[in-house]
Amino acid sequence: MSFAFLRTPLRRAVVQRSLPRAELRNQFRSSAIRRYTTAESSSNPPPPPKSNTALFVGIGAVVAAGGVAYYVFSDSDTVKSGTQIAKVKANFVPTKDDYQKVYNRISELLDADDYDDGSYGPVLVRLAWHSSGTYDKDTKTGGSNYATMRFEPESLHGANAGLHVARELMEKVKAEFPWISYGDLWTLGGVCALQEMGGPKIPWRPGRIDGTATEATPDGRLPDASQGGDHLRNIFYRMGFNDQEIVALSGAHALGRCHPDRSGFEGPWTFSPITLTNDFYKLLFDEKWVWRKWNGPKQLQDKKTQSLMMLPTDYVLVQDKSFKKYAKAYADDQDLFFKDFSNVVSRLFELGVPTQQFVTPEPWIMKNLDE
Ligand code: HEM
Repeated sequence: MSFAFLRTPLRRAVVQRSLPRAELRNQFRSSAIRRYTTAESSSNPPPPPKSNTALFVGIGAVVAAGGVAYYVFSDSDTVKSGTQIAKVKANFVPTKDDYQKVYNRISELLDADDYDDGSYGPVLVRLAWHSSGTYDKDTKTGGSNYATMRFEPESLHGANAGLHVARELMEKVKAEFPWISYGDLWTLGGVCALQEMGGPKIPWRPGRIDGTATEATPDGRLPDASQGGDHLRNIFYRMGFNDQEIVALSGAHALGRCHPDRSGFEGPWTFSPITLTNDFYKLLFDEKWVWRKWNGPKQLQDKKTQSLMMLPTDYVLVQDKSFKKYAKAYADDQDLFFKDFSNVVSRLFELGVPTQQFVTPEPWIMKNLDE
């Protein structure tokens, strides 16, 4: 029996955040870091300002122009956005500290008392995963590089139902830091959500560029939860993952829930849906799972409380011999799960990004907000 529900106050505490630290260490500041931003600004880079006066005139002009396409939320955000837009215009070269500021801002937006289980974290993880999981290793198409889910029809693909919530939240951050590409923003959002929900550090580095609708992938590249092991393997082998990695990635279902108006399925997988644990695997083994009798798609429910769910593709992880041995190892050892999960998610979020595009050969470890 899992006593994870007893951790509810703790779970809240995990996502409670202290005030952002005034100063972040400057150690990674390097002018060698290249600049990656939207297709528009990278294809048409403006000349750098000749002096500070030029920069201030630039800031004034941009603020006066109302920030053109960017959303504005409050007076202080207006100033921030104006400054950031001016940075883009000034050929701004972001450093690790600048990305850390984006991370910190995302983490400030996670808590939401009136949304689901109290955090946008799970839906941000799903956005990062669905923007990366379209990768096809043979054609080298898809993946997180171009953030093509911004465009129809990809945004309307059935698998992406509900992800507008996460994309709209990320627009707030984009408005404040317009120099960051959507691919970097969405994957950093996933990293931030996982780390702030008690998960392991997820090595991450920037370098994705924004593409156009022509780079969007066809429907059907993401997994269909109603299917079995062959389907899971087809989908994840296509991305370049093996059985162990499929099982490790699936542990993300410790987080969040299914929504009838998005996927048709209903309910959370664990009693602590906004804290990353290995409970997904523990519950798979410890609880008795029965097919739910209801007027919805085939899903399992725990016999005891009837409040948890498993998708057919989750249940396969304890039915298939090869998957099962990894699921058992993760059920028995959360540290092992965290180690493997960190490695595989880091790779997932880099799918489709040519190595030479990354600004650093070694991924960074971003600091948690309370570090
Ligand atoms: C193994 C194949 C997978 C299938 C078939 C699958 C399917 C689903 C489905 C049907 C939902 C419910 C969506 C909704 O109704 O809102 C969901 C949610 C979710 N998935 Fe997966 N998924 C898979 C793999 C993954 C992976 C690899 C990750 C991340 C590494 C992930 C992270 C999540 C998260 C965090 C949620 C909760 C979202 C929320 O609460 O809004 N899933 N998934």
